[in-house]
Amino acid sequence: MNKLGRNVVLIGSGFVGSSYAYALVNSGLATKLSIIDIDEDKSIADVNDLMDASCKTECPTLVKEGSYEDCKDADLVVLCYGNSQKNLTNRLDDIKIATRMVLDTIPKVMENGYDGIILLATNPVDVISKVVQEVSGLDHNKIVGSGTNLDTARFIQYLAQEVSCNPKDVEAYVLGEHGNSSVALWSNARIKGISIDKFLKNVGDGEKFKEDVLEKIRDKAFKIIKGKGATHFGIANCLVDFTRAILLDEKRIIMASAYLDGEYNNKGLYTGVPTVIGANGCEKILEMDISKKEQEMFDNSCKALEENYKLAQEVLGE
Ligand SMILES: NC(=O)c1ccc[n+]([C@@H]2O[C@H](COP(=O)([O-])OP(=O)(O)OC[C@H]3O[C@@H](n4cnc5c(N)ncnc54)[C@H](O)[C@@H]3O)[C@@H](O)[C@H]2O)c1
Repeated sequence: MNKLGRNVVLIGSGFVGSSYAYALVNSGLATKLSIIDIDEDKSIADVNDLMDASCKTECPTLVKEGSYEDCKDADLVVLCYGNSQKNLTNRLDDIKIATRMVLDTIPKVMENGYDGIILLATNPVDVISKVVQEVSGLDHNKIVGSGTNLDTARFIQYLAQEVSCNPKDVEAYVLGEHGNSSVALWSNARIKGISIDKFLKNVGDGEKFKEDVLEKIRDKAFKIIKGKGATHFGIANCLVDFTRAILLDEKRIIMASAYLDGEYNNKGLYTGVPTVIGANGCEKILEMDISKKEQEMFDNSCKALEENYKLAQEVLGE
């Protein structure tokens, strides 16, 4: 960690990147934020706008137009580039596009001697986390994908709404792919330690209710994109949570796309699991007790991710 401050380099300043930058400036966590985007007009405009915002915060951040040289003394590199969400029909369509973006950017980050943590939201985030690890050559723990963090926030929200309580009092998790094969862990869902089932007595067919909630979690992004072209505020705050945990070495347990090496009976891929996040990135994966059905769903999710990774490999092998 740089002793004089906390330097963050953001690559990709579209909807997600600029919202993250705004949330980061408001948090006061970074002393310097350098923004890189192939669309220079956009990154310069964001820098100027964010400097105005920074002036009004309690702990101002120096926001500047970035270059890859800024990675030399960076404490964290955050990837928010990717295919425009307007083109999204299925996150899989993005694999080849995003893999090419990784090949364009990560070698430039590494050429500048970067050896820190890379945090990313680029979709499909589980597959792209593995691509970033392979292209960078960094240790597995140094790649932190946003994983099912947003899906988990959505799950918590639905349960809080159903029970009419504060989301902070809900404990619930979505495991696996940030995408179509995600697994909502009903077996571990609790409100202040009380099993969620006790609260669902009035919902009629409990199984149907659970299926509907999972469907809503998976579809929410598409609904938001239909209305305004992108989802960006939710993921921005998720990324700030990760940033805080990394820069302040908080050791917080966050749903992240982390590298599995046998945990949950799967290995050799990145996917959404509860992970201790600190200065060393994904420091430890926690294994919850999950039901047999959830384990089967998770295994299928991992198989789907392995299949999807083959599309990235086609680009990596070109
Ligand atoms: N993980 C999540 O939970 C989550 C949630 C929302 C969006 N996303 C993903 O975030 C990514 C960005 O979405 P968005 O809506 O901001 O897209 P966007 O099109 O608004 O922004 C992408 C930005 O990346 C820049 N860019 C493209 N190639 C680049 C390169 N080689 N180097 C530097 N910059 C480059 C573009 O110029 C653009 O400004 C997408 O992959 C999207 O699916 C993830």
